[in-house]
Amino acid sequence: MKQVSNMANTSNGSLATLLILITISAAIHTGAAQYPVQSQNLISDNVSVVEGETATISCRVKNNDDSVIQLLNPNRQTIYFKDVRPLKDARFQLVNFSDNELRVSLSNVSLSDEGRYVCQLYTDPPQEAYADITVLIPPGNPIIESREDIVSEGNETEITCTSMGSKPAATIRWMKGDKELQGKSKVELTYDKMFTVTSWLRLTVTREDDGVPVVCIVDHPAVKDFQAQKYLEVQYKPEVQIVVDFPSGPIREGENLELTCLAKGKPEPQQVNWVRVDDDVPSHAVITGSDLFIENLNKSYNGTYRCVASNPLGEAYDDYILFVRDALTTTPIPTTTTTTTISATTSPPDVIQDAAPSTEAAAHDSQAGAETQRSMDHALIGGVVAVVVFAMLCLLIVLGRYFARHKGTYFTHEAKGADDAADADTAIINAEGGHNNSDEKKEYYI
Ligand SMILES: *[C@@H]1O[C@H](CO)[C@@H](O)[C@H](O)[C@H]1NC(C)=O
Ligand SMILES: *[C@@H]1O[C@H](CO)[C@@H](O)[C@H](O)[C@H]1NC(C)=O
Ligand SMILES: *[C@@H]1O[C@H](CO)[C@@H](O)[C@H](O)[C@H]1NC(C)=O
Ligand SMILES: *[C@@H]1O[C@H](CO)[C@@H](O)[C@H](O)[C@H]1NC(C)=O
Ligand SMILES: *[C@@H]1O[C@H](CO)[C@@H](O)[C@H](O)[C@H]1NC(C)=O
Ligand SMILES: *[C@@H]1O[C@H](CO)[C@@H](O)[C@H](O)[C@H]1NC(C)=O
Repeated sequence: MKQVSNMANTSNGSLATLLILITISAAIHTGAAQYPVQSQNLISDNVSVVEGETATISCRVKNNDDSVIQLLNPNRQTIYFKDVRPLKDARFQLVNFSDNELRVSLSNVSLSDEGRYVCQLYTDPPQEAYADITVLIPPGNPIIESREDIVSEGNETEITCTSMGSKPAATIRWMKGDKELQGKSKVELTYDKMFTVTSWLRLTVTREDDGVPVVCIVDHPAVKDFQAQKYLEVQYKPEVQIVVDFPSGPIREGENLELTCLAKGKPEPQQVNWVRVDDDVPSHAVITGSDLFIENLNKSYNGTYRCVASNPLGEAYDDYILFVRDALTTTPIPTTTTTTTISATTSPPDVIQDAAPSTEAAAHDSQAGAETQRSMDHALIGGVVAVVVFAMLCLLIVLGRYFARHKGTYFTHEAKGADDAADADTAIINAEGGHNNSDEKKEYYI
C-alpha cells in the first residue's frame, strides 16, 4: 500500500516538472522572452495580415487568478473589456473568451489598423503584452518589358520587370529557362508609402536562346507564384548543311547524284543557291528548291559544289566535293568486291567530301590485290587475339569462383549470428555453434 502511494507521488512530481518545462519552452517559442517583466503570465503575438483580410489578436494568460483582461487599440482605447466591446467598430469580434484567453478578430484590415495593440491584465502591478499588427499590401501584377523585340545573336539585350505598390518591398528574381540569372534592382518609396521595385536583366543572347522564356519572379509575403514572362526572340545568320540523298557509297561513272541543302536561320533564308566553285554547274543538272540532281555522271563533273544561303544577317555555305570514279565495268574477282565493300562501310560515305580524296580512291582501285593480302593478315592476327582473350577469360572465371567461395564463407560467419540471435552475446554463441547451414545462407549475403 505504501509503495503504491510513493509511486503516485513520484509520478506527480515528474508531471509537475514536465509542465514547467512545457511552459518555459512555450514562452520562449512565442518570443515572449523579449518582454521578461510583463510576460510571466500574459502573452501575445505579432500579427501580419494582408489588407482586406482578417487579423486575429490573442491575449493569453497562464495561471490566471481571475484577474480582468482587456485589449486596447494603438490609441489605447479599449476594444474589449473582458467579453464586452466598448468600441463601436464592429469589425472587432470576440472569437474566444475564457479565464486563459481573450481572442479577438479584426476583419477587413486596412493600413490604418497598423500599430501596437495592447493586452492588459489587471494584476498588481498591471501587466501588458503587445501585438504589433503589420498590414501587407500585395504588389500589382509584374510588368515585363524588353528593350528590343528581336535581338541579333551575340548582341546584348535588356529586360525590365516592375513590381508596383507593395508593402513591404517585393524582391525580384530572374530565370532564363531553368537557369537563375542575376539582375539589378532598385526600390522606390512612392508618395503613399508603397514600394515599387524595378529590376533590370542584361544578357547576351545566342541562337539557342531563341524561343526561351525569361521569367521575372516576384517574391512578396502577400502573394504566391507571382511572375511574368517574355520569350526571347533571337535572329541569327543561316547554318547550311549538304546532305547526300543518293548514292550512299562511292560515286561511279554513269550513276545519278542527288544532294539536298538544309539551311536554317532566323529569319528563315528565302532560298538557297547551288553553285560550282571555279566552274559552271553542268547544264543538265536539275535544281528544284534546295535539291541538286545530276544524271549519268562522268568525270567531267568532278569539282566542288556549293550551297549558299543568306538572310539579312549574313550568308553561309557548305561544300560538297564530287569525285567520280571509274564505272565497275570489268567483272571483278569476288574477293576484290568484298574488300571494296568492307572499305566502303568502314569509311563514311562522305569521305569524298573531305580533303585529299584522290589518294584514297586511287589506293582502293589500284591496290585491290594488296588489300586482299592485308585482310588475310588481319584474319590471322584476329584469330590469335581471340585465342588469347578466351584463355584469359577462363582464368578469370576460375579465379572468380575461388574468391567468391572464400568471401561467402566469411560473410556467413558474421551475419549468421547477428541474424538469428536476440542479442550480441547470443550471436557470438550461435556463431561458434555449427556451420552446418552456412552453405545455404551464403548465397543470401553475396
Ligand atoms: C513584434 O514586432 C516588434 C516590431 O514591430 C518586435 O520588436 C517584437 O520583438 C515582436 N514581438 C514578437 C513577440 O515577435
Ligand atoms: C476557447 O479556447 C479554449 C482554450 O484554448 C478552448 O478550450 C475553447 O474551446 C475555446 N472556445 C471557443 C469558443 O473557441
Ligand atoms: C473594407 O474597408 C474598406 C475601407 O477601408 C471599405 O471601403 C470596404 O467597403 C470594406 N469592405 C467590407 C467588405 O467591409
Ligand atoms: C546588334 O546587331 C545588329 C545587327 O542586327 C548590329 O547592327 C548592331 O551593331 C548590334 N548592336 C550591338 C550593340 O552590338
Ligand atoms: C560527260 O557528259 C557530258 C554531258 O553529258 C558530255 O558532254 C561529256 O562528253 C562527257 N564526258 C566524258 C568524258 O564522258
Ligand atoms: C575526276 O577524277 C578522276 C579520279 O578517278 C580522275 O581520274 C579524272 O581525271 C578527274 N576528271 C577531271 C575532269 O578532273
